[in-house]
Amino acid sequence: MADSIRVKATGSVSNLACGFDCLGYSMENPGDEITLTKNLSGEIKITMSGIQAEKITVNPDKNTAGKAILSMLSSLEISCGFDVHINKGIPPGSGIGSSASSAVGAVFALNQILENPLNEEELIIHAMVGEAVASGGFHADNVAPSLYGGMVLIRNYEPLDIIHIPVPAKLWSTAILPDYVVNTRVARQMLPNRVSLKTAVEQAGNLAGFTLGCVNSDFDLISRSMEDLFAEPVRKELIPGYKRVKNSALENGAIGCGISGSGPSMFAFSTDQQTAEIVAKEMQLSFKKSGLESKSYVSKINKNKPQILD
Ligand code: HSE
Repeated sequence: MADSIRVKATGSVSNLACGFDCLGYSMENPGDEITLTKNLSGEIKITMSGIQAEKITVNPDKNTAGKAILSMLSSLEISCGFDVHINKGIPPGSGIGSSASSAVGAVFALNQILENPLNEEELIIHAMVGEAVASGGFHADNVAPSLYGGMVLIRNYEPLDIIHIPVPAKLWSTAILPDYVVNTRVARQMLPNRVSLKTAVEQAGNLAGFTLGCVNSDFDLISRSMEDLFAEPVRKELIPGYKRVKNSALENGAIGCGISGSGPSMFAFSTDQQTAEIVAKEMQLSFKKSGLESKSYVSKINKNKPQILD
């Protein structure tokens, strides 16, 4: 058994407008690097570096990677200690799966060190337990794409039923990360407890349309379906320039645009790289008009699982 491993787990875009808590895809970049080293203390000791690392607790019970590791060790009845170093590439509170990426990197690395006692479906549960300490909710639409790669549908939570969605070959992602923070826990607390039957029916129609659009590479159907009636109507107020940014994406050729996860990042889909890059530039300009600098990530959907670096 190796004593140490370093892995990278990438960020993810979740909800995808019409799939609140049940759709997500993996990004090529950015990502968090997790180094796990066995120690003799029997404890989990966390150190942090990288982007806004000082904002994240190193208490293993409150840190998403630490909690995921504790959950996994407890279920396997292993009382081993580990030094955990998290090098953040994804700022916390960005809406592109920062806490999920750390949790996924941690369970993936631990499984490797322990010579793979758990399968991916079992790892997801521990990554969700980890992520819940940050978001206050039990959801898999960031951890699942980060662990599996590609685009996924969480069809059901109890029991967990995760389906891979075929990604149209021409689909390009633009994700814009403004220099602004939205706390996921707060953004979840503002959601309605109930929605009307009419709203639920419309959202179900959009979700079905989106997935069928992906299966058939029907970009018009994907485009028509990318509307969120659950979260975006209330969360848009949290994001400076939301409307301007969304309009700039759609006016410059994107087939759909929405809030990434709980925000403030926003994402858009395009059907070629050139459009995805123009959309990125225009969305960044729109954030700038609202006083926010931003970073852009343009890529196809990342098909890869976490990567073992050494
Ligand atoms: N689906 C979750 C939410 C993602 O929107 O609250 C949080 O990153």
